[in-house]
Amino acid sequence: MTVSNETVFTPEDLAAVEEIRKRYPTAQAALMGVLHLYTRRFGPITEKAIRHVAELLGLTPEDVLSVVTFYEMYHRPPARWNILVCTNVSCRLCGAGMVLETLRDVLGIGPGETTPDGLFAVQEAECLGSCGTAPMLSVNEEYHERLTPDAIRALIERLKPASPPDAWGGGSR
Ligand code: FES
Repeated sequence: MTVSNETVFTPEDLAAVEEIRKRYPTAQAALMGVLHLYTRRFGPITEKAIRHVAELLGLTPEDVLSVVTFYEMYHRPPARWNILVCTNVSCRLCGAGMVLETLRDVLGIGPGETTPDGLFAVQEAECLGSCGTAPMLSVNEEYHERLTPDAIRALIERLKPASPPDAWGGGSR
C-alpha cells in the first residue's frame, strides 16, 4: 500500500485499513469502514482526509467525496459507537425496520441522530455486504447479524457501561 506524505494514520491504523480492505471484494465497498476509522481517529472528514483515503484505497477523490456528502455522519464529530443499520433490499425484507424501531426504543434516536451524551449515533446504510445474515448492523467496524429485538437490546446494554462519555475521547476501541 503506497501512501503519500500526507499520511496521518499510524502503522496500527494502516494495518486496520488493510484488515477492512480484505473484508470486501472492492475498494469502493471498503470505503465506509475506512471512513469510520478515520472519523474515530480525527473527527469530521476534511478535504485532506478525502484525498488521503482515496489514495489509501486507490479510488478517486470524487469516489470518496460522493460517499462523504451522502452520509451526514462524516460531517460531525463521531459518537463513541457509530451504528450503521443496513436498509438495503435483503435487510429491509428481513427486518431492518424492526432494527431501527428497536434502536429508537432503546436509545431514543433515529437515523442521522446522536444521543445527547455523544455515545451513540445511528445512520442508515447501503448494503454492507452481509446480506446472507440479514438483518444486520455494524457498530464501528464490528458486524452484528441475524438481529432480533432482544439481541439489539443486549448489544446496547453491553456497550453502555463500557463507555462513559469522559473515557472514550474519540479514540479507537
Ligand atoms: S442488504 Fe443488508 S447487508 Fe446486504
